Amino acid sequence: MARTCLAVVLAAGDATRMKSSKSKVLHEIGNWPIISHVAQAASRAGVGKLALVVGRDADEVIDAASAGQQIPVHPVEQKERKGTGHAVLMARDIIAEGYDDVVVLYGDAPLIDPESLIAATQKRAEGADVVVLGFRAADPSGYGRLIERDGQLVAIREHKECSAYELAIDFCNGGIITFSGAEAVSLLEAIGNDNAKGEYYLTDIVEIARARGLKCVAIEAPEADMMGCNTRAELAEIEAEWQARARHRAMLSGVTMIDPQSVFLSHDTELARDVLIEPQVWFGPGVTVGEGAVIQGFSHLEGASVGAGASIGPFARLRPGAELAQKAKVGNFCEIKKARIGAGAKVNHLTYIGDAEIGANANIGAGTVTCNYDGQNKHLTQIGAGAFIGSNSSLVAPVSIGAGAYVGSGSVVTMDVPDDGLAIARARQDTKPGRAKRLREKIAAIKAARQ
Ligand code: UD1
Ligand code: MG
Repeated sequence: MARTCLAVVLAAGDATRMKSSKSKVLHEIGNWPIISHVAQAASRAGVGKLALVVGRDADEVIDAASAGQQIPVHPVEQKERKGTGHAVLMARDIIAEGYDDVVVLYGDAPLIDPESLIAATQKRAEGADVVVLGFRAADPSGYGRLIERDGQLVAIREHKECSAYELAIDFCNGGIITFSGAEAVSLLEAIGNDNAKGEYYLTDIVEIARARGLKCVAIEAPEADMMGCNTRAELAEIEAEWQARARHRAMLSGVTMIDPQSVFLSHDTELARDVLIEPQVWFGPGVTVGEGAVIQGFSHLEGASVGAGASIGPFARLRPGAELAQKAKVGNFCEIKKARIGAGAKVNHLTYIGDAEIGANANIGAGTVTCNYDGQNKHLTQIGAGAFIGSNSSLVAPVSIGAGAYVGSGSVVTMDVPDDGLAIARARQDTKPGRAKRLREKIAAIKAARQ
C-alpha cells in the first residue's frame, strides 16, 4: 500500500539577512517565487498534503505555494519566530491527523529535487525513524553539521553550538528532515530552547529520537540542490544554478543556444524543437516559442507566443499579449503589445504595434506607429491580410485598414480604409525649381552682414 505523507513547509522566517520589505520566500528564481518551487517539488514527490507555516506576507505566500502544483495547501500561522522546531509544531493538528511520514522542508531552498524526497521516504520504509538529507559543503559555515557514528546519525549540531572538532565536519544539514508520523508530535514537543540562540531547533529531534532508541540516518544529496537563500548574494547564486539547469534541459530537448550563459529563462518558458536562440535574450514569464523559430540577439519577451518558423530580433521587444503566427517576422527595434501578427506578416523596423490585429502576409513599413492610446482609453487597429503600410505612418486607433489596402508613406490615418483601397493622408508635395539656390544665397548674406 502506498505510504501517506504530509509536507510541512516552513516559510515564516524574518529574513533579516535578506534586508527586504517582503518575505524571502517571495523573492523569485526563474521569475517564480522561491516558495512556489518548493511546493512544486513536494507535489512532484507525491506528497498528499502540504501544511504551510506562514508569518509575514501570509496571503501572498499562501497564493505562491498554491500556484503551479496540485496538492492542497493548509496554512498555519506562526505568530512569533521561535525557531524551526517551534515552527513545525504550529502544524501539530494537521500532523495529528496521522501520516506514515512527515517531511519538513525549509521554504528558502528552491532547488530541491523531488527524487531526494522520494529517497528519504524509501529509507523510512526500510525502517529508519528519522531521515535527514545532507550534503557535503564546500564552505560549511552557517550550516548545522551532521554527526554520524557507525552508519547512523547521532546529532545535528548548529554552527553556533559546534566544538572545534565538529566545525571541521563538512557534512551538513540541508534542511529536509523526514520522520515517522506516529512519533512526530511527541518528538517535536520534547524540543527545548536551551542553546546559543534561545530558539527551538528542529535539528534537536535527532538526539531526542536517539535517546528513545529510534533509528536516525542521513542520506546525501548534491550540494547544489540544497542551497538555501539567506542573502541577496545567495539569491543570485541560486538563480545562476537554476538558469544553468533550465538551459541544459532546453538544449537536451532540441533547442540551440549559441551562448547559453547569456540566455535568461523563466520557470514556464516553453521552447519547441529546433528553436534557435542567439546571445543575450531574456524570456520573462509566459512565453511559448514554436518549432524552428529564431530569436535573435538582445530580444526581450514576456507573455508572448511566437509561432513555428517565426523570427524576431535582433533587439525586439514582445510584451504581454503579443501573438506571432507562423513565419511572422518582427525585426529590430520593434515593440509589440497585445497584438496578433498574422502568418508571414512582417514588422521589420523601428515600429510600435499595440492593441492590433494584423492579417497574414501584411507588410508594416519602418517607423509605423499604432496610436492606440488617447490618454484615457486603448483602441484597436485592424490591418487586413496582405495590406501594405508605407514607412513612417501613424495609424490613429480605432481604425481599420482593409485586406490588400495600401497606405502611402508618412500618412496619418484617422479614417478606415476599405479592402484594396489606397490611402494617402499627408500634405501634397510642392516643389519650387531654383528656390533652394536663392535661399542659400540669402542665408549667406545674413551671415556676412554679421561678421
Ligand atoms: C537551518 C538549520 C540548519 C541547516 C540550514 C540549511 C535549524 C535550527 N537549522 O538553518 O541546520 O543547515 O537551515 O539551510 O533548523 N523559519 C520559520 N520560523 C522560524 C524560524 C525559521 O518558519 O521561527 C523558516 C524560515 O522561513 C526558513 C526556514 O525555516 O524558510 C529555515 O530557517 P533559517 O533561519 O533559514 O535557518 P538556517 O539558519 O538557515
Ligand atoms: Mg536558511
